[in-house]
Amino acid sequence: MVKLYNKLLGTLAVGVGSVWALENTTVYEFESVKGLFEQEYRSVFSDNVSQVQLRDAVVINGTVVYEAGAGGDGGSLDEWLQEQRNVSVQRVLENIGPSGLYPSVLPGVVIASPSQAHPDYFYQWIRDSALTINSLVSHTHTHTHTLLQYLNVTFHLQRTNNTLGAGVQYTNDTASLGDPKWNVDNTAFTQDWGRPQNDGPALRTIAVLKIIDYLNEAGADLGSGYPFWSTKEVFDDIVRWDLRFVMDHWNSPGFDLWEEVSGLHFFTLLAQLSAVDKSLGYLNDTEQSSSEFVDELRQTRQAISEFLLDPANEFIHPEYNYVVETPAIAKTLRSGLDISTLLAANIAHDTPKASRLPFNVDDRAVLNTLHNLMFRMRSLYPINSNATGIALGRYPEDEYDGYGLGEGNPWVLATCAASTTLYKLIHWHISKQQDVVVPMHNETSNAFWDQLIFSNLATLGSDDGYLIVEYNSPAFNQTMQKIFQLADSFLVKLKTHVGADGELSEQFNKHTGFMQGARHLTWSYTSFWDAHQIRQEILNTF
Ligand SMILES: *[C@@H]1O[C@H](CO)[C@@H](O)[C@H](O)[C@H]1NC(C)=O
Ligand SMILES: *[C@@H]1O[C@H](CO)[C@@H](O)[C@H](O)[C@H]1NC(C)=O
Ligand SMILES: *[C@@H]1O[C@H](CO)[C@@H](O)[C@H](O)[C@H]1NC(C)=O
Ligand SMILES: *[C@@H]1O[C@H](CO)[C@@H](O)[C@H](O)[C@H]1NC(C)=O
Ligand SMILES: *[C@@H]1O[C@H](CO)[C@@H](O)[C@H](O)[C@H]1NC(C)=O
Ligand SMILES: *[C@@H]1O[C@H](CO)[C@@H](O)[C@H](O)[C@H]1NC(C)=O
Ligand SMILES: *[C@@H]1O[C@H](CO)[C@@H](O)[C@H](O)[C@H]1NC(C)=O
Ligand SMILES: *[C@@H]1O[C@H](CO)[C@@H](O)[C@H](O)[C@H]1NC(C)=O
Ligand SMILES: *[C@@H]1O[C@H](CO)[C@@H](O)[C@H](O)[C@H]1NC(C)=O
Ligand SMILES: *[C@@H]1O[C@H](CO)[C@@H](O)[C@H](O)[C@H]1NC(C)=O
Ligand SMILES: *[C@@H]1O[C@H](CO)[C@@H](O)[C@H](O)[C@H]1NC(C)=O
Repeated sequence: MVKLYNKLLGTLAVGVGSVWALENTTVYEFESVKGLFEQEYRSVFSDNVSQVQLRDAVVINGTVVYEAGAGGDGGSLDEWLQEQRNVSVQRVLENIGPSGLYPSVLPGVVIASPSQAHPDYFYQWIRDSALTINSLVSHTHTHTHTLLQYLNVTFHLQRTNNTLGAGVQYTNDTASLGDPKWNVDNTAFTQDWGRPQNDGPALRTIAVLKIIDYLNEAGADLGSGYPFWSTKEVFDDIVRWDLRFVMDHWNSPGFDLWEEVSGLHFFTLLAQLSAVDKSLGYLNDTEQSSSEFVDELRQTRQAISEFLLDPANEFIHPEYNYVVETPAIAKTLRSGLDISTLLAANIAHDTPKASRLPFNVDDRAVLNTLHNLMFRMRSLYPINSNATGIALGRYPEDEYDGYGLGEGNPWVLATCAASTTLYKLIHWHISKQQDVVVPMHNETSNAFWDQLIFSNLATLGSDDGYLIVEYNSPAFNQTMQKIFQLADSFLVKLKTHVGADGELSEQFNKHTGFMQGARHLTWSYTSFWDAHQIRQEILNTF
C-alpha cells in the first residue's frame, strides 16, 4: 500500500492578492510500512501550482480570529505584555506566604485568591499551589527560600490527618493525600467538599521534581530548619508518598479539576502519567533505577498510557477527533470538550524529554480540542461577536458564574492556556527541528489545520496522506508565524478585558467583558505568566 505525502521543500510563499500561497509543491510517495521519519521519499511529480495555502485571515461570522498584519495591534501588544507580566509576577508573589497583604497566610502557603467572601477562595488548593510553584521555579532563579517553605508545607500537609484518612506517618494507606483543599494555617479543611481529587499529588510531584533540579543545579544549602536535609530526602520523604498515591489510586474515581464530576478524567490521568514518567527520569539519573518501587512505577506508566490510548475507553471523540475529558458523562451531559485538555498537554510536556509521552501539544486531538472550543465558544459568549480574538471558558456546558450557578463565562486561565499550547507547539517544532506533519483534508478529524491554518488542503486529495512542511524551509517559517499570530490572538483578546492595574480575576463576563468571580486569582496570573514566558523564549531564541 502506498500513501501520498506532499512534501514542501524550500518553497517560497508569495503574495497572491491578499492570500499567501505556497509554490512549488512536490508530491512524494513511499511505502507506509516504515516509520514516517525513516523513509526515503521518492519524488512522483512536482509543479508550481499553488496547491496549498496558508490562510490570510480566519473570520467566523464576523469574529476575526486573526488576520495578517500583527492583529492590528502592532507594538502596543508587546508593551502591554511586558507590563502585565510584571503585574502578574508581583501578584503571584503576594499570594504566597508570608505576605504583607495577608498576614494569616503561613510561609510557603499559596492562596488560591485573597477573596474571603462572594466567593471565599481564601484557602490553599494542592492543584493551584503546585501549578503556581511550578511556574515560579521554572521562570525564575531567585526564590529559593519560598520554594523550601513550600516543600516544608507539603511535608506537613502529607502528615496531617484529614477527612480522608490519617497522615502518612501513621499508615501506609495514602488515601489522605487526595484531599484537595486546606486552610491557610495548614490545618485540614473538614467541611463537605468534592473529595478525593487525584491530580493533586501528581501535579505536586511535577513541581517538586523541578525544585529538586533547581536546588541541585544551584548547589543551594537546604539549611537545618526543615525536616529534610538534602534533595534526596525531599524525594524520599515527599515525592515517594505522592507517587505511592498515584500508583494506588490512578484507576479509582475522583473529582475532576473543576471539582464537579467524580470519575476518571483525561487531565488527571495525563498529569499522573507525566509525574510517573518524570520521576522515572529522576530515578534513572540518580542511579536508583532498579528496585521494586521502580518496577511498579514502570508498570503504572505503561498501564496509564494504555488506558488513555485504548479506543474502548473513549478519550478520543470518534468523529470529531478531539479529546473527551470525562468519557463517562460525554454521551449524556457534556460534549467532552474542555480546556483542561490543553492544560494537561501544557503541564505534561513542559520539558523536551517529555515529548515521547502521548498527547503532546502537536497531537491532532489536542489541537482539534482547541479548534472545537473556539468554534463553540465564539457563539456562546457575546463578547466574541464581531470582535478580534476569541475568549475561551472551561467547557461549553459550564454554568458556574464565579459566585454560584448562572451563566458560564470566559476564564482568564482558559484563554491563556490556548496561547501557551500554540507557543509550545512552535517552540517544540523549532527546538526539536521537527517537520510539520499535517494530515490531509478532513474538515472534522483534521479541523485545526484545515480551518485555522491552511486553506485548500482538500486539493491534496487522499484522506490518508500527509502534508510535510520541512523544518527550516520558508514554508515552515511562515507556518510558524501563522501559528504565532493565532496564539497571540488570545492574548489580544485578554488585553481588551483585563481590569484596572492589570487585575485578573477568575472570569470575565460574557456579555460585558468585565472581570468577574474570585479577584486576584493566583492561577490566572500564573497562566498569563506561563504564556508570556514561552512566547518570550521563542522571540529570544529564534
Ligand atoms: C519553483 O521551482 C522552479 C524550478 O525548480 C524554480 O526555478 C523556481 O525558482 C521555484 N520558485 C519558487 C518561488 O521557489
Ligand atoms: C515552474 O516555474 C518555473 C519558473 O518560474 C517555470 O520555468 C516552469 O515552467 C514552471 N513549471 C510548471 C510545471 O509550471
Ligand atoms: C454563523 O451564523 C449562522 C447564522 O446565525 C449559523 O447558522 C452558523 O452556524 C454560524 N457559523 C458558525 C461557524 O458559527
Ligand atoms: C518589568 O520588569 C522588568 C524586570 O524587573 C523591568 O526590567 C522592566 O522594565 C519592567 N517592564 C515594565 C513594562 O514595567
Ligand atoms: C491521626 O490519626 C492517627 C490514626 O487514626 C492517630 O493515631 C493519630 O493520633 C492522629 N493524629 C492526630 C494529631 O490527631
Ligand atoms: C509501612 O510499610 C513499611 C514497608 O513495608 C513497613 O516497614 C512499615 O511498618 C509500614 N508502616 C505502617 C504504619 O504500616
Ligand atoms: C515548617 O513547617 C512547620 C509546620 O507548619 C513549622 O512549624 C515550621 O516553623 C516550618 N519551618 C520553617 C523553617 O519554616
Ligand atoms: C538513564 O541514565 C543514563 C545515564 O545514567 C542515560 O544515558 C539514559 O539516557 C537515561 N535514560 C532515560 C530514559 O532517561
Ligand atoms: C455582527 O455583524 C453582523 C454583520 O455586520 C450583524 O448582522 C450583527 O448584528 C452583528 N452582531 C453583533 C452582536 O453586533
Ligand atoms: C473524516 O474523518 C472522520 C474520522 O476519521 C470520518 O468519520 C469522516 O467520515 C471523515 N470525513 C470525510 C469528509 O472524509
Ligand atoms: C527560518 O527562520 C530561521 C529563524 O529566524 C532562520 O534562521 C532561517 O534562515 C529561516 N529559513 C528560511 C529558509 O527562511
